[in-house]
Amino acid sequence: MTRDLRKACVIGWPVAHSRSPLIHGYWIARHGLAAAYTREAVRPEDFAGFVAGLAERGYAGANVTLPHKEAALALAAADDRALAVGAANTLWLDGGVLRATNTDVEGFLANLDAGAPGWNDGLRTALVLGAGGAARAVVFGLKERGVSRILVANRTLARAAALRERFGPAVVPLPWPEIPQALGEAGLLVNTTSLGMTGQPPLDLAGDIPLERLPESAVVADIVYAPLETALLAAAKRRGLRTADGLGMLLHQAVRGFSLWFGVTPQVTGELRALVEADLAAK
Ligand code: ATR
Repeated sequence: MTRDLRKACVIGWPVAHSRSPLIHGYWIARHGLAAAYTREAVRPEDFAGFVAGLAERGYAGANVTLPHKEAALALAAADDRALAVGAANTLWLDGGVLRATNTDVEGFLANLDAGAPGWNDGLRTALVLGAGGAARAVVFGLKERGVSRILVANRTLARAAALRERFGPAVVPLPWPEIPQALGEAGLLVNTTSLGMTGQPPLDLAGDIPLERLPESAVVADIVYAPLETALLAAAKRRGLRTADGLGMLLHQAVRGFSLWFGVTPQVTGELRALVEADLAAK
């Protein structure tokens, strides 16, 4: 260890499942940095104290995962993205000030940019499935890119209505049974629900979400990355539609933290993707 070692970590409870050390470790090696990225298992009751001592522990910053994302927002100077999402996943020390952002927004956008370049050119209507925390990041990102009509379909319609309260009239709550009619006008379909995730029920592609109704130019994105190729993405590909997957979003959301802590903007490479895919397949 040298005195110049730059350190960051992921803080969670539990934290063993986090892929962040694999991702950041790959970039540290690739750029030959004198840096380290570690896991910190911190109980909820100890989180505030841990964060207050971040600099003393030698950390330049941290990722924050469950269950600390809301607490992180309250403890740091949060940017617009973190405030809009209502949760922070990335912390960094800026001089003496602890700052926070939510990188899911740019993870979602950068992944679409990489997988479906030009996806928002002339995009008038997007259809978002789900109205939880992930949907807030997606809706905020779509608004940033100027999408003027964002239909939000959710099993619990009141949560979709709450997104309209939060983000304004571009958001149009949509009862779940009305998805089939809405698909015809959707240039982008994004699943932010847990449906389709390993161990969860599937999205009902035969009934609720007849993908054949999407326009031919539509793009389909899924935030689920286990399995890597969800039934939604497989069906979209069979139809010849462009897609963006959840693993891509996970990798792209990691870029900003790395550049904030270590001063280098890393690339999401095929090699990194293969590394994380292999790890997901092994566990
Ligand atoms: P996150 O913060 O990861 O988005 P969340 O806030 O728990 O997680 O949101 C999960 C989303 O998946 C919600 O939109 C949820 O719908 P409800 O708001 O009606 O709960 C959706 N979801 C989860 N299980 C579902 C199911 N079996 N059918 C339909 N939607 C489901």
